[in-house]
Amino acid sequence: MKMRTRFSTVLLCCLLTVCESSPSSVRGIAGQDVTLSCTYDIIKHGSSWVCWVRGALPMIGCGLQIAKTNGVSVTEESDRYKLLGRLEDGNVSLTILNARKEDAGVYGCRVQVPGPFNDEKHSIELIIMDGENVIPSVFCQIVIQYKCRINGHLY
Ligand SMILES: *[C@@H]1O[C@H](CO)[C@@H](O)[C@H](O)[C@H]1NC(C)=O
Repeated sequence: MKMRTRFSTVLLCCLLTVCESSPSSVRGIAGQDVTLSCTYDIIKHGSSWVCWVRGALPMIGCGLQIAKTNGVSVTEESDRYKLLGRLEDGNVSLTILNARKEDAGVYGCRVQVPGPFNDEKHSIELIIMDGENVIPSVFCQIVIQYKCRINGHLY
């Protein structure tokens, strides 16, 4: 009995894997177009109003939207913010033409689904890299840590 208890405390190994890959972050290159993807299930929801904002989405509505669609046609866009996806497929992705450093930051896509608190909200962080020196991006950082405790000693 005493032996068993001791054995279980003798060896303790931890394997810790941290993977920092954020699916909601997009990398663009200065001077090129970049698309922030946003889609919704048009078969389930039907054609829906969708708006894009710069920064965090407000609790309700869209605030200062940079692009908007009623689900059938584009109702608001600008010289640089375009909705080029197939709206009929529920693709309401935002394309920023000729991206600049200042475009970096958070963008929000809100799909207005009828009913209280049903809206689908997506938040995407845009990272803009210099066109000249594009460093191969490391999307995943793996940190592996081993800790072994044998007879109370950490190795
Ligand atoms: C949505 O449209 C954008 C812009 O045309 C395109 O880049 C993207 O691949 C489309 N996404 C899907 C899921 O079809």
